[in-house]
Amino acid sequence: MSFYSPVITNASEATSNEKLHLFKYVEDPQQHKSEIFESHGGYTAWRKVLGGMSTQQVIDEVKNSGLRGRGGAGFPTGMKWGFVPKNSPKPTYLCCNADESEPGTCKDRVLMERDPHGVIEGMAIAAYAIGCHIMFIYIRGEFNHCIERMEEAAREARERGHLGENIYGSGYDLEMIVHSGGGAYICGEETALLNSLEGERGMSRIRPPIPAIEGLYASPTIVNNVESLAAVPHIINRGADWYKALGTEKSTGTKLFSLSGHVKRPGNFEVELGFSLEKLIYDPEYGGGILDDKKLKGVIPGGASTPFLTPEMINVGLDYESLTTVGSMLGSGAVMVFHEGTCIVWIIKKLIHFFRHESCGKCTPCREGTGWLENMINRIEAGQGQPGDIEKIEEVCGNILGRTICPLGDAAVMPIQSAIKNWREEWQYHIDHGKCQVETDFSFR
Ligand SMILES: Cc1cc2nc3c(=O)[nH]c(=O)nc-3n(C[C@H](O)[C@H](O)[C@H](O)COP(=O)(O)O)c2cc1C
Ligand code: SF4
Repeated sequence: MSFYSPVITNASEATSNEKLHLFKYVEDPQQHKSEIFESHGGYTAWRKVLGGMSTQQVIDEVKNSGLRGRGGAGFPTGMKWGFVPKNSPKPTYLCCNADESEPGTCKDRVLMERDPHGVIEGMAIAAYAIGCHIMFIYIRGEFNHCIERMEEAAREARERGHLGENIYGSGYDLEMIVHSGGGAYICGEETALLNSLEGERGMSRIRPPIPAIEGLYASPTIVNNVESLAAVPHIINRGADWYKALGTEKSTGTKLFSLSGHVKRPGNFEVELGFSLEKLIYDPEYGGGILDDKKLKGVIPGGASTPFLTPEMINVGLDYESLTTVGSMLGSGAVMVFHEGTCIVWIIKKLIHFFRHESCGKCTPCREGTGWLENMINRIEAGQGQPGDIEKIEEVCGNILGRTICPLGDAAVMPIQSAIKNWREEWQYHIDHGKCQVETDFSFR
């Protein structure tokens, strides 16, 4: 069975560009084997850590590197690790979040499929830093190939002494459990993930307490995204200053972007944070421009949960701060491109169907509101819109935003609000004429 999904990456650029590290070996068909991974310098950071670094030194190195979580929220990774209480009488857990459920995102999958030991090494270092001896990876249930690959890599890591008892003679023990996810978007939200891992229904928990204080089995738990953890060995090997010099002042390092939709070369690309969105879409080395040389209509820059950008806004850096200045977010780095032949109401119909279906139902604004929104948007799209519908949609969105237990509610409404703000006349046309102003071209890839 081939584990290689036919996805375009810029691995060849990464092999010659010293700044790129996550994708350096992902086109090597043998990289998933521990022996080959080790021949490329794999597990040297782990050896360095167990060879004499204190837990605080590891945390400080990651803090100083400026690494921020790549799962969506961009929270500083080292700072999060520092929240775990020292000398807790309870065990401490690490959960690698490999649910990869944000629509448009397919980067963690490439790391797991092609460089699984890189993920394990990052997890092991994080586990050590927080005093954990049993670490979990929670993998999206549909990713059978990633589950098999990570299980195989964990087995190999144990056989070769990178995991297990008394690792490298250091006295430190670490076990790894690969867990197949529940198959729901909400299980990517860290507290719902922990519920699911405990065998409960995937529903978000009310915070506080935050997982770092009371997470899995009511014990201190750190949840980190695959890409965040995969960056850690490189920081330990090359140092915080090297990492900090990449990207921008506040958004350090590199980031994986999953580019999809109406572009000529959809794929996963590793670039420094702050890289131009326009370049990512149009440069022949990356997206290669808009499919069929049509005009760009809009872009969702950070996964389905983030507000749309119009063509006038794409001259912007792909980093946490710059995207905020144009009213959107970096999110998970899933850049979805739509050309002029796409009806905005049709796009939103698809998105709200997803969010309504994935709402865990725990809080009323999200559970009821996403249903109301879907009904109204479906009606408009079907040509049965009524005067006042747009205002009603805006009102319902306003009553969801900021009023839910977890950010899924916000995620559902932000793209809708921006779609109305940027293309209001298209919504109005739909209501007035009972049909699309723009004939949707379904030639998505
Ligand atoms: C609805 C929802 C879905 C999420 N899905 C994912 C996911 O699939 N993968 C992920 O890493 N983070 C996801 N997150 C973010 C996690 O809750 C959490 O912030 C993240 O795993 C922390 O890791 P990081 O600090 O390394 O980014 C999701 C959040 C929400 C609200
Ligand atoms: S916002 Fe939605 S998904 Fe999140 S807890 Fe509330 S109902 Fe569940």
